[in-house]
Amino acid sequence: MIQDNETPTGAQMPQDIAKPSALLGGLSPTDFMMAHWQKKPLLIRGAHGALPAMLSRAELFDWACREGVESRLIEDKAGKWAMRKGPFTSKILSSVKTPTWTLLVQGAEVLHPAVAELLSAFRFLPDARLDDAMVSWASDGGGVGPHFDSYDVFLLQLSGTRRWQIGPQKDLRLQADMPLKLLAHFEPEETHLLGPGDMLYLPPKWAHNGVAQGDDCITLSVGFKAPARGGLLGEVLLRLGEMLDDETLYSDPNQPATREPARMPAALGDFARDAIDRVLTQPLALACALGEVMTDPKPGVWFEAPEAPFEAVLGAGLGIRVNVKTRLLYDDGHVFINGESYVAGGHDFELLRQLANHQQLGASDLGALSADALTLVSEWYEAGWVDAQV
Ligand code: SIN
Ligand code: CO
Repeated sequence: MIQDNETPTGAQMPQDIAKPSALLGGLSPTDFMMAHWQKKPLLIRGAHGALPAMLSRAELFDWACREGVESRLIEDKAGKWAMRKGPFTSKILSSVKTPTWTLLVQGAEVLHPAVAELLSAFRFLPDARLDDAMVSWASDGGGVGPHFDSYDVFLLQLSGTRRWQIGPQKDLRLQADMPLKLLAHFEPEETHLLGPGDMLYLPPKWAHNGVAQGDDCITLSVGFKAPARGGLLGEVLLRLGEMLDDETLYSDPNQPATREPARMPAALGDFARDAIDRVLTQPLALACALGEVMTDPKPGVWFEAPEAPFEAVLGAGLGIRVNVKTRLLYDDGHVFINGESYVAGGHDFELLRQLANHQQLGASDLGALSADALTLVSEWYEAGWVDAQV
């Protein structure tokens, strides 16, 4: 893409954020964000009608047996919790005898197109905040125990009934020696019974405990991860270090002989501080590092190369769509995709922003890309990051 200084024009947003939404109980996304997001829970009766029949226990169990799918089996054996990680064999799953157990499968949006479709209804939120959709199946009394998450989470009941106890817990101490994080002193303030189609939004650190009432309780959790400052700093600094690739060596020609060989030289501290200062004087490098970190695929994610070459897609007059596993973001001057960053500007940037916001680009828009940008998109296609629109 050729860099220029044109101001980017705003791409059309995927949904009307001022319109009342059934998913949000009649609130518009704008009102929801102002009144509830990161502030207080929201219970929505009948948030989604079409979903309950979407996933079956058999489907979920099949996913939990697949290599490359993150799954966990949690059993509550009268207060003695046990957790096993998948993939499982169907024999293991059918041999679980405890009544109170639950099976959790992460990344359901990759496994079922209807879940991916559902996630798009949450795109009034920045894609950078989305983690994934987790599905759980629980037998009577099953759940993952009283806990809190570092996530904003939308808990959508797909089938069966779950009793949620929630509270703005202050005491976040955990039970010792447990295979999962369980609150030691859970103090619920509200109880809600959720049936198929009902949804509960909880801000991060809001304590909750969901217990299945009867078998075949299926819950979908749409999680929005808030990165921790320390963790993000570590990842961004690592990228910056690689990006700037400064081989300047620390030098100490004036170091006198010492009687305290174990003491850290003060000049070494200055050298490290100077390295960080230098990085911070390069805001574009920081922006690139952040974009690369936020679009880096999760460990274990792999992409499949397409069967047809890109020329065949163009020849057939097809457009492209973003693969469900791809993370594609942009800022004022860059496009970020699956851990890579590109400087962008002009009409190409406008079209790539359209691809990012709408998750697709039609054949005529593909044809309007410059030769450089089209080559880049063809590389994304060959890598399996974008697919032919069918
Ligand atoms: C579940 O689906 O059982 C647990 C979801 C959660 O508590 O975040
Ligand atoms: Co939770």
